Amino acid sequence: MIDPRGLDRLDISLGQIRRIIRDFELEMERGLSGQKSSLKMIPTYVSRPTGKEIGKFIALDLGGTHFRVLELTLKGAGRALEPKIMKFALAKKHITGSAEMFFGFIADCVKVFLKKYKLESADELDLGFTFSFPVKQAGLAGGSLVCWTKDFNVRGVIGNDVVELLRAALAKKDIRNVKIAALANDTVGTLVAKSYRDRNCDVGVIIGTGTNACYPEARLGGMIINVEWGDFDKLKLTAYDRKLDKKSDNPGRQIMEKAVSGMYLGRIASLVVKDLLGLKPKLKTEDMSAIEGDHSAGLAKTASALKKVGIAKCTSEERRQVKNICETVSGRGARISAACIAAIIKRMDTNLSRRHTVAIDGSVYEKHPTFAKNMKSCLKEIFGSKSNRIKITLAKDGSGRGAAIIAAVAASR
Ligand code: GLC
Repeated sequence: MIDPRGLDRLDISLGQIRRIIRDFELEMERGLSGQKSSLKMIPTYVSRPTGKEIGKFIALDLGGTHFRVLELTLKGAGRALEPKIMKFALAKKHITGSAEMFFGFIADCVKVFLKKYKLESADELDLGFTFSFPVKQAGLAGGSLVCWTKDFNVRGVIGNDVVELLRAALAKKDIRNVKIAALANDTVGTLVAKSYRDRNCDVGVIIGTGTNACYPEARLGGMIINVEWGDFDKLKLTAYDRKLDKKSDNPGRQIMEKAVSGMYLGRIASLVVKDLLGLKPKLKTEDMSAIEGDHSAGLAKTASALKKVGIAKCTSEERRQVKNICETVSGRGARISAACIAAIIKRMDTNLSRRHTVAIDGSVYEKHPTFAKNMKSCLKEIFGSKSNRIKITLAKDGSGRGAAIIAAVAASR
């Protein structure tokens, strides 16, 4: 029989949500003023675009399980043509090998892209490089990697300028007409992509393999700050979180990411299922989506999802409980994300007197059946009827499109 207390520990009351908001606001302030904080609050040297930028730009979007190269033509007045996109899978050997091999692979992909779209001998192309890891930027087109996250572990990159590494790799493959104009985090790309059309957009969020957010900081004249919220560590943890953290590649780091993002939700749910039901599935976050979206009477999709992850036989009661566990784990992630968004909005606009658009990209937000809905209902609990001033919207491929727009802003300077 399920131990109800086990699941209760993963529930987050409105009181706890308010505490998270307060702690997050304090950590943001500490991070900005150079005090010790789990929030890095990195200045990005990017401001929101005007919507008037025009021209043809290339972008690289790197930071999850897939790597994308795209070309975007901006028409001004907030309009752009549908981008040309190529997607490449990143194998384990690429993300855990040497810097030379990693950047060499990326340069090869750029070459394939240029060939496919007949851009090999085009005039100089400005490129926006989305690199979705904590980077200490020295300016718009350069910055050194602080640490890897999301199980990436390429040797020889930490402390080095990732733009220089990419530039050298492109030169080595004889790609001469591509100029790296800007470096950006994926959250910044997402915010910029949406605000090209929507002037109210002032928060960019990723909830995918990893999770993070950015916003324009008034104290810095509206420069966008990469919060690196995945490292936020003022959350009440359960025994499951501690176990997952201990077994991870980066114990003690990315505590919030481990409670929210796609890389980890399945691992937590698996630990809870093992503890409460004695079953040992190896759930991925996609499996949770299938299970939580299962509305059939006998939970047939849940049965086949469980079969896929090593549980060949289970009772209908067990399936019901597994579904309940998945809902609790993903629901907690959604509520934590909503609380942190609320803290960022409060920092910009204490009384919620303006409209705000929150642009979100990432597989969990896009594909999970209830994550987005749970975030919205949590914002309603926090702000009451004023929550209708907050529009949360999907910014599909925002990180790549945004990098192209950032390159455009840089090129126009
Ligand atoms: C990780 C990275 C961060 C990125 C996020 C989403 O948290 O550290 O830079 O924005 O994943 O991809």
